[in-house]
Amino acid sequence: MKQEILFSGIQPTGKIHLGNYLGAIKQWIDLQDKYNSLYCVVDLHALTISQDPQTYGQQILEVAMDIIALGLNPKKLFIQSHVPAHAELAWYFNTLTPMGEMARMTQYKDKAQKNANNVNVGLFDYPVLMAADILLYHATVVPVGQDQVQHLELTNILVKKFNNKYGTTFAEVKPYVTKAAKIMALNEPTKKMSKSLGDAYCLYLNDTEEIIRQKVSRAVTDSGPQMDGQMSEGVKNLFFLLELLGDKKVQTKLLTQYNDKTIKYSELKNAVADSVVNFLKPFWAARTRLSKNPKAVLKTLTDNGKRVAKIADKNLAEIKKKIGLI
Ligand code: TRP
Repeated sequence: MKQEILFSGIQPTGKIHLGNYLGAIKQWIDLQDKYNSLYCVVDLHALTISQDPQTYGQQILEVAMDIIALGLNPKKLFIQSHVPAHAELAWYFNTLTPMGEMARMTQYKDKAQKNANNVNVGLFDYPVLMAADILLYHATVVPVGQDQVQHLELTNILVKKFNNKYGTTFAEVKPYVTKAAKIMALNEPTKKMSKSLGDAYCLYLNDTEEIIRQKVSRAVTDSGPQMDGQMSEGVKNLFFLLELLGDKKVQTKLLTQYNDKTIKYSELKNAVADSVVNFLKPFWAARTRLSKNPKAVLKTLTDNGKRVAKIADKNLAEIKKKIGLI
């Protein structure tokens, strides 16, 4: 049986934190060998919010190095702008996309509100480019976070519209919504870990051991185990990190102490910091190795782009023929 094609993208918009890893990138890595997988640094998408041309190239490369150091096979990763067919297919899709569908997109409305001084056409068109990313390769498996599901619904609207008008070409895509771990901010444990809440409470993959320990030690907890046995959000979040990254025995011991009400939160925090640091150590080593030769990483990405572009161009030629272009 032919393997299904998987496509996913990540925007190069800044430093990656533990919430990004456990919430998304980990799934990419877990799925990479189960499908015929393509992973893309979507540098064209990130242009919909303003980027500094002096540093953008470096930012794109750093995200790629982070993902590779986390364990993604470097052969499966490429840069969106290296394959011009993405933007071209987006144009064909633009001519099939009802304005009304686009105006409903909650992420657009949200971003337009947050960037009121830069509401550009690209921001509005973002979901169409996303549909082009996926359908250019006839991908059907698309791992995304819950916030991207609406965009995939639009992709499926475009599948139907294209197929109706030009004949069956694309298959519907399946959102692979990761039952991913939702990590909360250390300072505001009712909110998702996010750099917008402040750097001091996000555990970045490239933080030093010292910084990680300091940030964890300052995490919000509570006055101690409660009479009703209900864990506060902050304590729950620490136990969750321990469950995901820590040693089972340590976790069981601390949980027993919590239930006995003999726990010291300083010990819980130490255990969490240890487990985060132990998890990050091999990442730091791999990342340092890659950073020593960024040119080699760029060469790999560029070569991958050339390989992928051959498939993209072949598929695009078939699509253009269906549209009636000569
Ligand atoms: N919009 C996605 C996000 O912000 C990134 C993305 C772009 C993407 N193109 C894609 C994800 C195609 C899946 C498939 O997370």
